Amino acid sequence: MTADIKRYRYGDPIDTDAVVMNIPVTVGDVPGWKVDTLNKCMSVIMSRDLVVYGLGETVRGINKRGWLYTSFNSDDPRHEEGKHSLYASQNFIILDDGKNCEGLFIDHPGTVHFDIGYSDIDVFTISFEDMDAYIYTISGNDPLTIVKNFRELIGTSYIPPRWAFGFGQSRWGYKNADDVRAVADGYEKLGIPLDMIYMDIDYMKDFKDFTVDPERFPDLPAFVSEMRKRGIRLIPIIDAGVKIEPGYDVYEEGVNNDYFCKKEDGERLVAAVWPGRVHFPDFLKPEVREWFGDKYRVLTDMGIEGFWNDMNEPAIFYTDEHLVEVFDELKELEKQELDIWGFFKLTELADSLANSPEDYRRFYHEIGDKRIRHDKVHNLYGFNMTRAAGEAFERNDPDKKYLLFSRASVIGAHRYGGVWTGDNSSWWSHLLLNIKQMPSLNMTGFLFSGADIGGFGADTTEDLMMRWIQFGIFTPLFRNHAALGTREQELYRFKRSEDFKHIIELRYALIPYIYSEFVSAVQNNGMYFKPLSFVYRDDPRCKTIEDQLIVGESIMIAPVYEQNSEGRYVYLPEEMKMIRFRSVDDRDEEIMSAGDHYIRVSFNEVLVFVRKDHKLPLGKPGMHVDELDFNDLKNITC
Ligand code: GLC
Repeated sequence: MTADIKRYRYGDPIDTDAVVMNIPVTVGDVPGWKVDTLNKCMSVIMSRDLVVYGLGETVRGINKRGWLYTSFNSDDPRHEEGKHSLYASQNFIILDDGKNCEGLFIDHPGTVHFDIGYSDIDVFTISFEDMDAYIYTISGNDPLTIVKNFRELIGTSYIPPRWAFGFGQSRWGYKNADDVRAVADGYEKLGIPLDMIYMDIDYMKDFKDFTVDPERFPDLPAFVSEMRKRGIRLIPIIDAGVKIEPGYDVYEEGVNNDYFCKKEDGERLVAAVWPGRVHFPDFLKPEVREWFGDKYRVLTDMGIEGFWNDMNEPAIFYTDEHLVEVFDELKELEKQELDIWGFFKLTELADSLANSPEDYRRFYHEIGDKRIRHDKVHNLYGFNMTRAAGEAFERNDPDKKYLLFSRASVIGAHRYGGVWTGDNSSWWSHLLLNIKQMPSLNMTGFLFSGADIGGFGADTTEDLMMRWIQFGIFTPLFRNHAALGTREQELYRFKRSEDFKHIIELRYALIPYIYSEFVSAVQNNGMYFKPLSFVYRDDPRCKTIEDQLIVGESIMIAPVYEQNSEGRYVYLPEEMKMIRFRSVDDRDEEIMSAGDHYIRVSFNEVLVFVRKDHKLPLGKPGMHVDELDFNDLKNITC
């Protein structure tokens, strides 16, 4: 297999731990590319037919051609088309002209720009701030073989516990145990299945990691077991920044053991996030990972079995230094006549406070005996926070599986946890974005993934939630999450709650299929979500279809993602059996010929297309995953 992978070395690369195989370095330049080390870039001419896949969690389509993407993990809640970076950086791409294809992995932890026909419509240029990188070329006859070879290189993806395939309800704003109880009651009363309730930052005492507010959650261990008896697991959030507060053990230990990131002058960096002023643990040091990872025990000892790691790009609201600079400039502005340019300056100044590029250059990491400025290894930060937790779970509890996923990620993190795609909005375009992100994430090793269903920011609507849930039932991570101050979007709040119940029950009936396809995709280095073009290689139409996906081996889905839509066009690359589900048992089946069809899809219907000579096993729903019978399945065949 290693014959299919070659490694090239540029400059003085840092070991990122992205890969698990030691491929010898090939002397020379990456074949086929014009490499210009002086200008720190490499480029290739793209033929008209060339499709570029990959890059994981980004804006825009499955075919990445036509835009500029920047690998620099960013806490930016406005996931608009004009953006270049989101929370993750997965530098793996596949170039496919239909006849030949090749994979490329840029193993570099700093900023990388992928200009894929943006500056010049025919040219693909990869440029670096520092061209210190290992570049791997991965060959194979088709994209799926390239993915398989690449995934062998980077190691097996994370598999969560089986119950994590259930439905989870989350909201930033559940203030106390009673709020959480009310959510469990709401679902239980209507008989809507639910396995997890997520606890956002309000469970902590003053947003301090590994603390529990004694007033809001007076007896968390008892509450955890109360909820477990109701079939529900509580999943708390952990943030990257540690509050600066004398007497707080995590802070004290971090200071005493020199575990926090420091500036050039040797002082600890002071940044502000939810708790106010914080220090950032230097997760790139193994001893810091061990220390921070062991802290999760505070909560696992209370019965907690899963976590979501957040703000780990790391997100910075401001640093002390930058705040002083901005205030100084504001004072200057105050003295002046605020003309239009002054007004722009004023708003820009306020906007410049958070996640400032300068702040990412203000602090350092210690890697071995090297001291490296943060921005040079920025994308490794979230990975190593999640790795801290993952390694600790393996060390302390080797026989148990924990649920773990992160916001920031990079290739390597896929071995320790999953990802959610961060602060999307309750927009129809973000439902479509969710559909397109899933196969791209899968290629790069992130199989346990999903978006905030219904949308995080902005107010959702009943029809958006319904259509999003109808797609979400196929995503391994299946969580409804919303921001503080937005419309409440627990499913029992909507008028057509009965329809929601039927769709969630369908998820539970599909879990035996979803789980086994997921695990087999992980074990075989395959993809759970595939673009049609990866499966129907000889059908040129499939290359442009990005709103239908192959899920597992047996089925194709064609979600509805437009407001007030009563149907959609679906392209069938071959004859398939269409199942129109209104609920698990209320369904119609119809053999559909290959070709284009306009298909009506009512508000309460989900379409599933069973592929020729494949079968879809369907179980019986239950209120919780633990209740499902994985042996009592009926096969639907085509
Ligand atoms: C971040 C997370 C979001 C969470 C919020 C409060 O914005 O992405 O999911 O609800 O912080 O913790």
